[in-house]
Amino acid sequence: MAALTVGGTVRVPGDKSISHRALMLGALATGRSRVRGILESADVHSTAAVLRALGVAVPSLGAAFELEGRGLRGLRASAEPLDCGNSGTTTRLMAGVCAGQTFASRFVGDASLSRRPMRRIARPLELMGARVELTDGERLPMTVHGAALRPITWESEKSSAQVKSAILLAGLVAGVPVTVGEPERSRDHSERMLRALGAVVTVDGDNRVRLEPPASLHALDVAVPGDPSSAAFVAALAALADRGALTIDGVCLNPTRTGFFDALRAMGADIHVDAAGDQGGEPVGAITVRAGSSLRATRVEGAQVPSMIDELPLLACVAARAEGTTEIRGASELRVKESDRIAAVVANLVALGVEASELPDGMLVTGSDRALRGRAITHGDHRLAMAFGVLGALPGNEIEVDDPDCAIVSFPGFWRLLDSLTARVD
Ligand code: S3P
Repeated sequence: MAALTVGGTVRVPGDKSISHRALMLGALATGRSRVRGILESADVHSTAAVLRALGVAVPSLGAAFELEGRGLRGLRASAEPLDCGNSGTTTRLMAGVCAGQTFASRFVGDASLSRRPMRRIARPLELMGARVELTDGERLPMTVHGAALRPITWESEKSSAQVKSAILLAGLVAGVPVTVGEPERSRDHSERMLRALGAVVTVDGDNRVRLEPPASLHALDVAVPGDPSSAAFVAALAALADRGALTIDGVCLNPTRTGFFDALRAMGADIHVDAAGDQGGEPVGAITVRAGSSLRATRVEGAQVPSMIDELPLLACVAARAEGTTEIRGASELRVKESDRIAAVVANLVALGVEASELPDGMLVTGSDRALRGRAITHGDHRLAMAFGVLGALPGNEIEVDDPDCAIVSFPGFWRLLDSLTARVD
């Protein structure tokens, strides 16, 4: 049986969530912000384009650039609809920003984004005083009529950093205090970056985040760390490989994002995390994965879910190679991501010969070492393309991914990196 050997140290592109926030907060700051290591992916280009349409002089994205902020109330109305492409983060966070303006903004997106739920942001923004027109009461195209907003205390039914951030940004631009609670803590990059720029953001023992809006935001000077959601694909490959060890350097180790690595460790993978320090309010370090461990099934639920929400399709693919039945529960949010990730992941696994089934809020996947052959349908969903790409790169498997190019949404260069990491099979 052919064996895959991995080795070396790699880096992954900048974190997507932090990249969006660096552009948005840089645009709302006073003065010139400096941004290094931004993710140059389709989603981040969507945020840059939306900000340009609102009058911000965002330069072409590159390894390092400067951005002149327009202040908290310096945006101007766009003559064109704001095209958010495939990006839920662009749509929902910028809806918060636009809710506090003196003008209306119309949001549009691609077919996948146009199916995604938006009432979750419309409800709190309307309670604050904005008017939000949704198509069919739920979807894009959406028009946000800005207004002088009121303070709000909002309890989200589901943990969502996008909903939380939309409310924080609305409070920020409108100059009103806001409080947002959620059942489990979602990623907290907005809170960290706002604090770094001079805002007072506090969190109580029940996950309730409160923003006291500052009169202005300081300019930003940030080096965006590597995206743990992208590092997860590399770590999974190394954990599934037969020999060697791989290190991923410069990764964001924010604990609201690292649940996948904990789950992989719980499955028996040999993972070592080396924290190296702080970068712009975010912990950063290296993750080393040693190949050759035999993996066993795990169970993921509750507070673990938000900390690895985007990695659950990948975890399901890893589970297809682990002994026993992995259970993912409490993850109904997967049904409203770039695709219905529960239905799509299970359908693909079953088509490839894996025993898997859907649960209303998750899935069951039983692992085996049989060769997996067939076609994975991505529905244009970048994370599905890459998860099945990793599974297909293992010796013995032959998986054709129907739309590999959609990986550019979050990880340009993914296929090149995967090819280079899988070159040693003997
Ligand atoms: C994101 C939040 C998460 C995540 C998405 C990025 C963010 O979505 O799935 O990829 O940058 O705030 P939810 O807020 O819907 O959980």
